[in-house]
Amino acid sequence: MGDVSGGLIRFSAVGKTFQTAGRTFEAVAGIHLDIQEGEVVTLVGPSGCGKSTLLNMTAGLMVPSTGTVLYRGKQVAGLNRHVGYMTQSDHLLPWRNIASNISVPLEIKGMARAKARNRVAELVDLVGLAGFESSYPTQISGGMRKRAALARLLASDPETLLMDEPFAALDAQLRLAMQTELLRVRERFGKTIIFVTHDPDEAISIADRCVVFTGGPGRIAQIIKTGLPRKRDLARLRFDPQFLDLARGLWAQLAPVPPEEEGA
Ligand SMILES: Nc1ncnc2c1ncn2[C@@H]1O[C@H](COP(=O)(O)OP(=O)(O)O)[C@@H](O)[C@H]1O
Ligand SMILES: [Mg+2]
Repeated sequence: MGDVSGGLIRFSAVGKTFQTAGRTFEAVAGIHLDIQEGEVVTLVGPSGCGKSTLLNMTAGLMVPSTGTVLYRGKQVAGLNRHVGYMTQSDHLLPWRNIASNISVPLEIKGMARAKARNRVAELVDLVGLAGFESSYPTQISGGMRKRAALARLLASDPETLLMDEPFAALDAQLRLAMQTELLRVRERFGKTIIFVTHDPDEAISIADRCVVFTGGPGRIAQIIKTGLPRKRDLARLRFDPQFLDLARGLWAQLAPVPPEEEGA
């Protein structure tokens, strides 16, 4: 299947089951979703509904049990080198300081030292870590580690960004700055972004489309096309009637949490 008319990424009847302790557990089922190049798609839904599993399958770290994940019309088989993946844990190397953690992808690419140093300085500024270049991951806060991981992801300059709750640990002001930066990166470089979040406001505010999941097994309940302009002022957006309408609807839909999710 070399057909790309469905978009950059296509989930076709995707399901995933896990075998644990001799039991079969269905994590996600019947996922049909097309993602267009340059789109920001957010995934939101109760904990355990398979959002990370979908990112793992897109990255080629997990194989679907049923159906297929296509990237540019080709079935994802093995590591998908077109994507950069920011997982829920930051995976910074403890023996490298912040600057040299961020420079890892540049070193792998073989970028000249001076150029790499400049690029790292740019990225450090971008994520607000100036002054912490020579700190080690254990010496900085969780939020700062997240920002370092984001800088490293941007250093690797992937075509598609997979982001798993990247800003959850950040304070409101910083989260707004990071979200703004992410949309700027999309705008300037045409990146495609799949972004998992727990936060309904975030799920709407940064999205072109927001995919809402229900749990047990995870299925798509609804896809919300936000219709918000690509260029948007996120600080003002939260008072915008169109945003408020969408956010109110999503909050209402996500409000009833099934009791079996607790301690599952
Ligand atoms: N490697 C695995 N082995 C067994 N079960 C898993 C594995 N990965 C995820 N699961 C289970 O699949 C379900 C979906 O997990 P996940 O994709 O992490 O959900 P979410 O990211 O939406 O919180 C959960 O019930 C989780 O326990
Ligand atoms: Mg998850």
